[in-house]
Amino acid sequence: MISTSSRIGAAVAAAVSVVALTVVLAPPASAATPLRDLAAAKGRYFGNAMTAGDFNDAGYRSLSAREAGVVTPGNEMKWDATEPNRGTFAFARGDQVVAGAVAAGQKVRGHTLVWHNQTPTWASNLSATELRSAMVNHITTVMGHYKGKVFAWDVVNEAFAENGTRRQSFWQQKLGDGFIADAFRAARAADPTAKLYYNDYNTDGVGAKSDGVYNMVKAFKQQGVPIDGVGLQAHLVVGQVPSTMQQNIQRLADLGVDVAVTELDIRMKTPSDSSKLAQQAQDYTKVVNACLAVTRCVGITTWGLSDNHSWIPGVFPGEGAALPFDNNLQPKPAYNAMSAAFGTGGPTTTTTTTTDPQPTGCTAAYRVTGQWQGGFQAEVEVSAGSTPVTGWTVTWSFVNGQSVSSSWNAVVTTSGGAVSARNADHNGSIAAGSSTTFGFVGTSGSTNSAPSPTCRAA
Ligand code: XIL
Repeated sequence: MISTSSRIGAAVAAAVSVVALTVVLAPPASAATPLRDLAAAKGRYFGNAMTAGDFNDAGYRSLSAREAGVVTPGNEMKWDATEPNRGTFAFARGDQVVAGAVAAGQKVRGHTLVWHNQTPTWASNLSATELRSAMVNHITTVMGHYKGKVFAWDVVNEAFAENGTRRQSFWQQKLGDGFIADAFRAARAADPTAKLYYNDYNTDGVGAKSDGVYNMVKAFKQQGVPIDGVGLQAHLVVGQVPSTMQQNIQRLADLGVDVAVTELDIRMKTPSDSSKLAQQAQDYTKVVNACLAVTRCVGITTWGLSDNHSWIPGVFPGEGAALPFDNNLQPKPAYNAMSAAFGTGGPTTTTTTTTDPQPTGCTAAYRVTGQWQGGFQAEVEVSAGSTPVTGWTVTWSFVNGQSVSSSWNAVVTTSGGAVSARNADHNGSIAAGSSTTFGFVGTSGSTNSAPSPTCRAA
């Protein structure tokens, strides 16, 4: 019975399969092409933080207008700027950043609504009941003011401690665990069209703190708390980009949220020298590639654009030179590295999609997301049809001698060129109309064409 139905399934699948083969050639990298355009060609954005004070530097403004498609106000939408006294809202500085962005054809990321820093003492001194209503009022009023002008908001910022438990901020102490979910619910009601993000630092790679965020997002998804994305601040140190950054982005994406790198800078002990700048360039490449390797990583924002418009020297004494342009607004090796990575790296060299919602219960799309001499990386998106899936297996044949070396988010077994990838423990269940992704690194064969995968639900 089982073998009969699977034979019938295979025959029907073969008969009704629609195989679409798309070959997208990456445009040549050119330092003359602004990052915003290179990123856009990859379906991503490149952005930078911009403060009202930055507007005094005309050269910096035009550099941002040229390079960045998205702007995040560095300070102007924080609570101390927007509601300095209870019920008295001040939007002039935020509006100035928005107007500058609009003039430069840039979109705006909102930052940030609920945070323990840069929040006036009148708020932190409120009773629990008062604080909760002040929070909802703040979110409602600020998001209401910027409705249609801000495409994504960091709703809650930095609410986790390094060990992955909740930070013991006044928010947490007064309102308890529920304050984050409450903030997101208020945010969704205030502007249903804005993407709602949780944003934090030291959560870039896999670790205790990012585990905490991951588990919260997973719970929110299960409970129906509205969340659309996770921001990884990525305030990094030269030579110390977490090796698990791509894996971390991927696991968040697999929960069904977007991921954005929101405040990237990669600092070094100053003064800089050519070897530190070369290392920094490699580090920027790693971050761009980690984002480009995951379809739901939507964009990268640097916290400033040039070293003279950076928060680092003021906060980390003896450190700086963290951004892609130098004090004279000249491109550094890091800029050229980002340009090359956005220009040449990431998806999508070859995509094969097999559309076959019946009768196998799922479909699989195979993408080569990177290639190099002798090797490649691929990502397979497994999608449920109109019924939920509780377990899946994707199979394909490598006919050009490729092989799988290491995989993530699936259990892969091979026999000759035949590859079988079964769901991992955490991603067997896919809701109707949803998808999950697994990936692997492989060795290339004679050529590296994408095979046509078949997906079967358990
Ligand atoms: C920083 C600003 O860049 C500084 O101008 C300000 O003095 C302090 O805040 N994480 C965040 C950002 O989410 O809001 C911070 O911005 C940097 C760390």
